[in-house]
Order: sequence, then C-alpha cells, then structure tokens
Amino acid sequence: MDRLGASRWLGKDLTRLDSVGSTNQVLRERMRQEEVPAGAAVVAGRQTAGRGRMGRAWWSPPDQGLYVSVLLYPPPLRQGGILSLLAGVALTDAVRTLTGLSPGLKWPNDAVMGGRKYAGILVEGGTDPRPWAIVGMGINVRGTVPEEFPQATTISQQAGREIDREGLWGTLAPALEAWYERWESEGNAPVAEAWRRASVTLGQEVEAWAASGRITGIAEDIAEDGALLIRQGSRCIPVISGEVSLRLANGGYAPES
Ligand code: BTN
Repeated sequence: MDRLGASRWLGKDLTRLDSVGSTNQVLRERMRQEEVPAGAAVVAGRQTAGRGRMGRAWWSPPDQGLYVSVLLYPPPLRQGGILSLLAGVALTDAVRTLTGLSPGLKWPNDAVMGGRKYAGILVEGGTDPRPWAIVGMGINVRGTVPEEFPQATTISQQAGREIDREGLWGTLAPALEAWYERWESEGNAPVAEAWRRASVTLGQEVEAWAASGRITGIAEDIAEDGALLIRQGSRCIPVISGEVSLRLANGGYAPES
C-alpha cells in the first residue's frame, strides 16, 4: 500500500523543532491549551527526554534520528494495540519504498532490519475530552550505530547509503495517512494481515512478560485486536501488551531477514 506524494491531512499542521524534551509531550501540552486538529504532527531532530515503552527513556541523539509524534482521534473502542501495529506497517511501507529493502516488525512495535532494531513506536492515548491517540515514532535514520549497541541499527546503515530524514518523513506521512484511512473504513483485518506479512515474531519461540507473569511458547498469530497469541500445548494465550523477546538459536535480537 505504498502511496507516494503528499499527504492530505496528516502532518499538514506541522511543528518542526531542532531540539525538544519529548515530541509526544509537546503535542500533549498543546492539547491542554487548544483544540488540536487530527493529524497534527511534531517533528524534532533531537530529544532530551525522549520516552520509550514500559517507562523507559528513548535515547534520541542529534543528527541521527527522526523523532515524530502524530495526533489522531480514533473511533471509540477501536484503538487498542492495533494503532501501534498500524504505525509499524506504515513505517515498513515507507522504508521499503525508500530503500527497496524488506524491513520487519517485532511484536508489538519494534521495527527491525538485519536482525537489529531501527525504530520504536510509543502510542499514548486517552478519552478526555474525546478519544485521542498520540503515535510517537523514534527512527534511527542517519549514520551508523556504535558497535557497543549490537541490537540497534539505522536505516542508512542497512541501506548502505545515507537516507535523508526529510525524505523519510515525506514518505512516512502519506503512508501513515493511507493506512489510518483504510483502518477507519475497513477495520483491523487489513492492518493485521499486513503486520503478519512483515512479522519476524510469528513462528518463533518467545518469552513474554505480561501482566499475568512470564509466558513462553511459540508465537502463533496475532488476534485482530493486535494481541499476540502464544501457543502453549493445547492452549493459545493472548498477550495484549508487554515485553516479548525471541529465543533465537544465535541469541540475536531478531532474525536477520
Ligand atoms: C520504544 O520503546 O521502542 C518506543 C520508543 C518511542 C520513541 C518516540 S521518539 C518520538 C516520540 N516521543 C517520545 O518521547 N517518544 C516517542
């Protein structure tokens, strides 16, 4: 679902900042002060207090990454985990279009290439004054990652040439818009299907830490709401959120392809 060309509404209200605490936080604070249109985006070249999943910090060095947050007003009861899968699918399309490579997705929302993570997605949401979601994406775009971070990479490192952050945003915004509109009109199924095609998680032996504790088994599928279904003998346990690591024979972070 590659859509080249400009987006129509996503990113039209665009705030560009050289350096910021957290792009998610900038949008959140603006929402407290005024009515912010759907698709409003904040793009920064550096974050000093970038936030990751599970309360972690997101290392956001200057010159290397694209740090972007987009405000959406999803239909009530329809957001859940699927929005972060949707963002991953859109990012995968954009990176494929730009590089010709085949990026993968590791459940729930790590974007991977060459067995390493090049981007993470953090979706924050609420219902006041109406259902909202901020999709935050931290994408390692330029340069190379030092050897001491063997689980991380950049798009440029994988492509073997410098990828430009503007070009990535110009491709990502229409891809995200197209997938969001498709989700609004067709529901979760096409997103789940595209996610499955890009998945590096399904079919692997995994270890998950969910609210109920540690679960190990084979990652069999995702449910249509985005939950990971882990096979344990005759039972399939849905994991809605949490941390999942792949138990690969080579001890790597993700499969190479
Ligand atoms: C992860 O833990 O993998 C998700 C990381 C998400 C980081 C992005 S960078 C842009 C946006 N602003 C933040 O503070 N976090 C997200």
